[in-house]
Formats: sequence, C-alpha cells, structure tokens
Amino acid sequence: MKKHIITLAGDGIGPEIMNSAQALLKAAGEKYKHEFTTEAKDIGGIAIDTHNNPLPDETIEACEAADAILLGAVGGPKWADSVIRPEQGLLKIRKHFNLFANLRPVTIFDSLEASSPLKQEIVHGSDLMIVRELTGGLYFGEPSERRDGGQSVIDSLTYTHDEIERIVRTAFDTAMTRRKHLTSVDKANVLESSRMWREIVNTVGKEYPEVTVEHELVDAAAMKLITNPSYFDVIVTENLFGDILSDEASVITGSLGVLPSASLSENGLGLFEPIHGSAPDIAGENKANPIGMMLSVGMMFKYSFGLHEESAAIERAVNTVLKQGFKTPDLKIDGAETISTTEMTEKIISNL
Ligand code: NAD
Ligand code: IPM
Ligand code: MN
Repeated sequence: MKKHIITLAGDGIGPEIMNSAQALLKAAGEKYKHEFTTEAKDIGGIAIDTHNNPLPDETIEACEAADAILLGAVGGPKWADSVIRPEQGLLKIRKHFNLFANLRPVTIFDSLEASSPLKQEIVHGSDLMIVRELTGGLYFGEPSERRDGGQSVIDSLTYTHDEIERIVRTAFDTAMTRRKHLTSVDKANVLESSRMWREIVNTVGKEYPEVTVEHELVDAAAMKLITNPSYFDVIVTENLFGDILSDEASVITGSLGVLPSASLSENGLGLFEPIHGSAPDIAGENKANPIGMMLSVGMMFKYSFGLHEESAAIERAVNTVLKQGFKTPDLKIDGAETISTTEMTEKIISNL
C-alpha cells in the first residue's frame, strides 16, 4: 500500500513526538511492505512565526492532496498573549476538513494499572471510548466579535439538528462494535442544547435496539468517570464537555501522554493526534512520552488505511515495552526504569 501523510509537528514537544511517529512509519513500512511518504508543514505557533498565520494556505493545500494528517501539538507561552493564537490553527483545520467526530479511546494496558493514582481495583478492566463532537458548540461561537467595549462578552453555544445527529450516529455505530453500552453526557438540567441532544439520542437509539442508552449529567459523569471507570463503554458528548472529560480520563491510565485520538469526517480525510498539548514545561528535554503519538499512528492505520494488523501490532509493542519495565518520567511505575523519548521510541519499534 502507498500512502502520503502530512506531518504537522507544531510546537513544544510536538516536533519531538513527531520524530517518534516518523520513525514508526519508517519501521512499519519496511516490516509490512508499505510505502509511506511524509511531508512536513507548519501549524500553530511556528506557523505564526514563519507565516503570520496559524494555518497557512500551503498547509491546507498539502493536506487536501494527502491521504491522512498527523499532528503533534500546538501552543505555548510564547504566543499566550498574542491576538493571533496557535490554537486557532487547530480549530480551523478541524472545521476546514469537517472533522466532527473525535474518537478518544481510553484503554488501560495491564502494565499501566499500577501507574494510575487511582486504586488498581478501580482502574482494572477500564476500556472506554469518548466520542467527542469536534466542530460545533462553544468552540465555534458567533458572533466572531465577542467583546462589547470591555463591558460584556459573549461565547455562544449553537448546534443544528444535523450536527447532533451525525455525532450521535457515530457513537451508536461505535457502540455496536464494542460492548453496546452508550452513555450520552450533557447538562440537560440547564442547557436547551442538551435537551435537544437528549431527544436526538432517544430518537436515533430506536434504530439501535441492541444498544443500552443512558443519559448522565456532565458533573455526575465527571465524578463517576474516576470512581467507576469500568462502568463506561462509549461516551458521546458535546465539544467542550468532551475536551474536559478526556483529560480527566487520562488519570485512569496514569498519564495524559499515552492517549491517542482520531478526528474523522463523513468520508474524507482523517487527522490523528495525541490528546495532550505542547507540554511547554518539558519541551526540548527528550522527556515527553511518545506513546499517545505512536498510538495515534496506529489509529491512522486502522481508521484511514484499514491496516488492522499493523495497528494492533503497535498496541502490542507498547504494552510489551511497558511490561518489560520501561517508562518515561510522566509514568509512575514502581521498579520501572525511566528512559527518554528517543529510547522509548526505539524500544517500541524494536518490538513491532
Ligand atoms: P498539556 O497537555 O500540554 O500539558 C499538561 C501536563 O501534562 C504538563 O505537565 C505536561 O508536561 C504533561 N504532558 C502532556 N503531554 C505529555 C507527554 N506526551 N509526555 C509527558 N508529559 C506530558 O496542557 P497545557 O500545559 O494546559 O497546555 C500547553 C499548551 O498546549 C497550551 O497552549 C494549549 O492550548 C496547548 N494544547 C494543545 C493541544 C493540541 O495541540 N491538540 C491540546 C491541549 C493543549
Ligand atoms: C485538545 C486541545 C484543544 C481543544 C485546544 C488546544 C484548542 O485541548 O485537542 O483537546 O480544546 O480541543
Ligand atoms: Mn484538550
């Protein structure tokens, strides 16, 4: 198989973990006889510095001609007070390619159970998928002029029926491939958008009689996610709730650095990125955990290229290396040896 991939390394630890993704692509290509070509483009802070634009046209054009997109992370203190922000590039690329379905699997490899700050008996057996709506809600509020002379400010939350229905369908379809248990998370005791969301979940649910559906309010769901994580199978939720719940869910695995994601449209291009940010506090130190990025390559193999065996091989290699007793500094595993980003990358690749 021949595939062309755009790599958007971005800022902070982004370039370090993108090196891990590149090395993995090279090794997987050789082992499984595929030809993966890559082309690096700018997004985020680095693109502001070089193009004065967090998502330059040439980046969009290169992505349009590609088979998939890999992204590291964007943002950092350097641009924290600038009018043009790195994060705008990320929101714009998600919107441009209609990447409304953000799949964030939270799988606890048995080797990671001990690294969670939660008790082992609580995290044992956790395996859930957060299906986050990614192109609507508060992230894309109107009007774009949000301050009224400093006297008031507006961030609005709008969803159309179709926008809710398509993400809800994605979640039901996902549940059908798993344990058939869907939890829809909202704030229906306060928000009208959540009440419409519930109605749509109930209507679409009639087409999926095998799926058990529940509605949970987001505050209670946040509590339950870390007191009883193995209760959940698929969670579907609005953009901002999904952002917050997915970082919270990383506590189950012990580190934000191990969680991957896939951002998908109805039938076009997919974008794959770890859920964490640019980690400015450890950037440039060869300390970042590359696992979230490398598992994102695995999600690209599975969701964009249909390479299921190659994808499973990456997960197995990660589990093997953790089991062998190696970890990056973010993981707290008693007795394990702490290694660098590059060493972790090499070990995972050599276990492919
Ligand atoms: P962050 O996710 O960058 O970091 C939070 C904490 O987790 C830090 O202590 C960091 O060191 C640690 N961490 C994150 N990834 C890690 C990894 N792979 N290995 C080891 N430790 C890791 O969140 P933040 O500090 O709130 O945000 C920093 C910047 O990143 C901000 O500009 C934010 O907007 C941006 N951000 C970007 C993305 C993205 O590009 N998709 C996602 C989240 C945040
Ligand atoms: C994520 C990030 C982004 C989001 C930011 C950087 C805009 O936190 O991908 O989870 O909130 O979606
Ligand atoms: Mn986030």
